[in-house]
Amino acid sequence: MNLPNLKEAAKRSKNSVEVVYLDKNKKENINNKKYFLRTYGCQMNVHDSEEIKAILENLGYTFTEELDNADIVVLNTCAIRENAHDKVFGYLGRCKHLKQSKPDLIVCLGGCMAQEEVVVNEVLNKYPYVDIVFGTHNIHELTTMILNCKHKQDINVYSIEGKVYENIDYKRDSNITAWVNIMYGCDKFCTYCIVPYTRGKQRSRRSREIINEVKSLVEKGYSEVTLLGQNVNAYGKDLSDELSFARLLEEVSKTGIKRVRFVTSHPWDFTDEMIDVIAKYDNIMPYIHLPLQSGSSRILRLMGRRYTKEEYIKLFDKMKEKIPNVAISTDIIVGFPGETESDFEETIDVVNHCKYDGAYTFIFSPREGTPAAKMQDDTSLEEKENRLYRLNEIVNKYSLENNKKLINKNVKVLILGVSEKDENKLYGYTDTMKLVNIVGDKKLIGQIVDVLITDAKSFSLDGKVLKSN
Ligand code: SAH
Ligand code: SF4
Ligand code: F3S
Repeated sequence: MNLPNLKEAAKRSKNSVEVVYLDKNKKENINNKKYFLRTYGCQMNVHDSEEIKAILENLGYTFTEELDNADIVVLNTCAIRENAHDKVFGYLGRCKHLKQSKPDLIVCLGGCMAQEEVVVNEVLNKYPYVDIVFGTHNIHELTTMILNCKHKQDINVYSIEGKVYENIDYKRDSNITAWVNIMYGCDKFCTYCIVPYTRGKQRSRRSREIINEVKSLVEKGYSEVTLLGQNVNAYGKDLSDELSFARLLEEVSKTGIKRVRFVTSHPWDFTDEMIDVIAKYDNIMPYIHLPLQSGSSRILRLMGRRYTKEEYIKLFDKMKEKIPNVAISTDIIVGFPGETESDFEETIDVVNHCKYDGAYTFIFSPREGTPAAKMQDDTSLEEKENRLYRLNEIVNKYSLENNKKLINKNVKVLILGVSEKDENKLYGYTDTMKLVNIVGDKKLIGQIVDVLITDAKSFSLDGKVLKSN
């Protein structure tokens, strides 16, 4: 049994990171058994779930959308805010009932929540029927844990700085767009954030491995890759002899992949060189997710964000000036400990200046073990909810305004599939990452097509196909 430890997880040494080349997944013949997998959290977790699917399918399990039909349940969890906690434990509660009729059911908990001491203690004390707990550092060990499962709680979570694994097998959700990890972990330690603890030290992958992965995706016919990391533009800073993010982007662009995206960028690490590369290459998409978090320099300092309101605005303006047609979205936290009405108004100020294409907005959620969880917080939840409401009104107004500017315009859309809401429609994304619902032929799935935008809402556009390329 290996239990998580947040203090251990916060350690950072200068030691170089070990690169481990994994063997091919074990193939087994578990027949007529089904897996149920639920994924919470960010794109990194979505991509990790593609690794979990490959592991389960190599063992012989087939996918089911119904929890009740499952022989194995895997919850890949997120720890960023408190609210995910209740949903996950709600699922575990349902598994308890299911296990009464199906004693062989294997229940697995993985992901960022599994890296939290409080969560694992809760599982140990109150959820004895959870068979397997694995963390973010040892997803590859899930195969053996499942094969050895004796229905006695097996908890294997490491609070290490982390390694870099290569040769990971993925069962990708799409054959058009693909996630590509370029770095793991985070060393920023923003005072509110749990990620540096749950994901460990920043570890960049070697650029040659990344380029080879992208090249093989191009060969397989993929049109788009999204380079993934908590802090993509800090790429390479943990290695002495690696490319910068700007050069990496350039190399990825040169593989000939039709579209390159990247997420998430930290304003502090954004260089002029990166802006120039994004502006220069047509296949690097003009869309940047640039989290603001707060518009008050005082709160930004308390958050440990390493930039001021003025520095953020300067960077934002430079991006808008240098990258033609760039769309920028953001993340904002309201109600950080000590945030006053006037701090909040500074956030609104920045939003009014930046007129974002989109924003994810959150109420501060104290995460045990992080510095901000211990800061004095006198603002009532009611007041925080009120700020969130006011912020969302403004944010949505600007998304709608920006989207409306596209009406009657011709934009390029990569068609990804049939719309979930309306089976007569297709959906896809513009260069600028705007969702478009389109009337068109299913044969266009996977193609980049010219679309005339006919209507705009806050979160999506409507369009019709003009011609395929
Ligand atoms: N690496 C990214 C963020 C990853 S987490 C970055 O640095 O921007 C995604 C978003 O969740 C953050 O941008 C932040 O807005 C929000 N978030 C993180 N911790 C939070 C907390 N404790 N309470 C509320 N929101 C939080
Ligand atoms: Fe969290 Fe900050 Fe790292 Fe983003 S940069 S993952 S907000 S610590
Ligand atoms: Fe959540 Fe972990 Fe991502 S905490 S946001 S799943 S890195």
